[in-house]
Amino acid sequence: MSRVIAEVTPTVLQAFADAWNRHDIDALMSFMTDDCVFEASAGPEVGGTRYVGREAVRAGYAEVWATFPDAHWSNARHFVHGERGVSEWTFTGTRADGTRVEVNGCDVFTFRDGKIAVKNSYRKNRPALPARRALDGLETDTQAIADHWGKGDVYALIVSALNKMSKPLDGLTVEDLAPVDHFHARGFPATIELADRLPIKAGQHVLDIGCGLGGPARYLAKRFQCQVTGLDITKPFVEVANKLTALLRMQGQVKIELGDGVRLPYADGTFDGAYTQHVTMNIGDRRTFFAQAYRVLKSGGFFALTEHGLGEIGNPHYPLPWSMDGSGAYLVTPSETRAYLEGAGFVDIRMEDTGAKYAAAYKAAIEKAQKGELPPLGIHLLMGETAPQKTRNALRNIEEGRTHPIQVICRKPG
Ligand SMILES: C[S@@+](CC[C@H](N)C(=O)[O-])C[C@H]1O[C@@H](n2cnc3c(N)ncnc32)[C@H](O)[C@@H]1O
Repeated sequence: MSRVIAEVTPTVLQAFADAWNRHDIDALMSFMTDDCVFEASAGPEVGGTRYVGREAVRAGYAEVWATFPDAHWSNARHFVHGERGVSEWTFTGTRADGTRVEVNGCDVFTFRDGKIAVKNSYRKNRPALPARRALDGLETDTQAIADHWGKGDVYALIVSALNKMSKPLDGLTVEDLAPVDHFHARGFPATIELADRLPIKAGQHVLDIGCGLGGPARYLAKRFQCQVTGLDITKPFVEVANKLTALLRMQGQVKIELGDGVRLPYADGTFDGAYTQHVTMNIGDRRTFFAQAYRVLKSGGFFALTEHGLGEIGNPHYPLPWSMDGSGAYLVTPSETRAYLEGAGFVDIRMEDTGAKYAAAYKAAIEKAQKGELPPLGIHLLMGETAPQKTRNALRNIEEGRTHPIQVICRKPG
């Protein structure tokens, strides 16, 4: 297929980048001149291996995908100046031996007659990352993960703490329960911050995947006057969540059910939006998880995600809130998350590094615990005896670049 374009623009370069991500060789070649040249980012020559002419360039491009079957270029930015142009990106890819590359790079282009005459690729010279278990189609031991979370009589602990605080159960508000039922280190403030960015309208239907005790679901339902369905894999949490919803008399707006985020039991296009707060660290099959979220959204629906991503250094210290020893933990880097979301079809992906905010929250919790000032009601009730160790490790992991907390908001096109 031949492509006739007056001049190459940043939009054309984005279409070229999209073809790389689709691994679509015919589309790629339609952007190239007949005498095109591809200078690869590696190889014995001073400019990297040089492929000259359409057939050679075609083979050179195909070789990239042969070397990295999951090759993906994310966060692409382009500029064009006359007959020259540049695309910057972050490349991720896994070799056959499992070692991984995640690196920034760019293509420096020369154009002629609205086509690419030369593509000259550069990548940072970074050592390969060690092989990791693939997160595609990876079956997780969901019972083990549910057992990890669902320890102890959480409802009794909450009621006992409320009694200590002289809070009668029949007059409880969403805010009263917030110290305990937003089960992530930054708690209620993080949910409020996320909600501030969500385009929810009254009467809409929103899905909370991995809703825990349902605090975020009840808060969003109250704040936006919307319907929220929550789904969680941990039966005791689902039971407590429904009891708390009943205490607040919110059953008309909030429904919490038992289920796996990787197998959403909802019809296509059911929800106006979906979010998942600090759940994906336990999701082995990220590709399916995001594909399911995408499937159940209406066109144009938002998807929001907060998680502890994997940091540059990797190898987090355990125990952590989501795993005692690394079992059932499946962390990926922020750029891998972006690539998974793009792969699922999400667009307008806005990613924020929340590391500093989480580090500050962990520090505050550690100081309070050291001074014996932890309030009766708090998420420490849910983390058991190892709560102090988990909190210290969570802080240390961020400080040492082992984890990388992020907040992401994107949407299904349409
Ligand atoms: C840290 S808690 C967060 C709870 C809630 N999102 C919140 O912010 O309060 C993690 C939750 O993810 C749930 N979870 C883990 N894997 C899941 C899966 N595959 N499907 C549904 N929920 C899951 C756990 O049961 C747990 O309730």
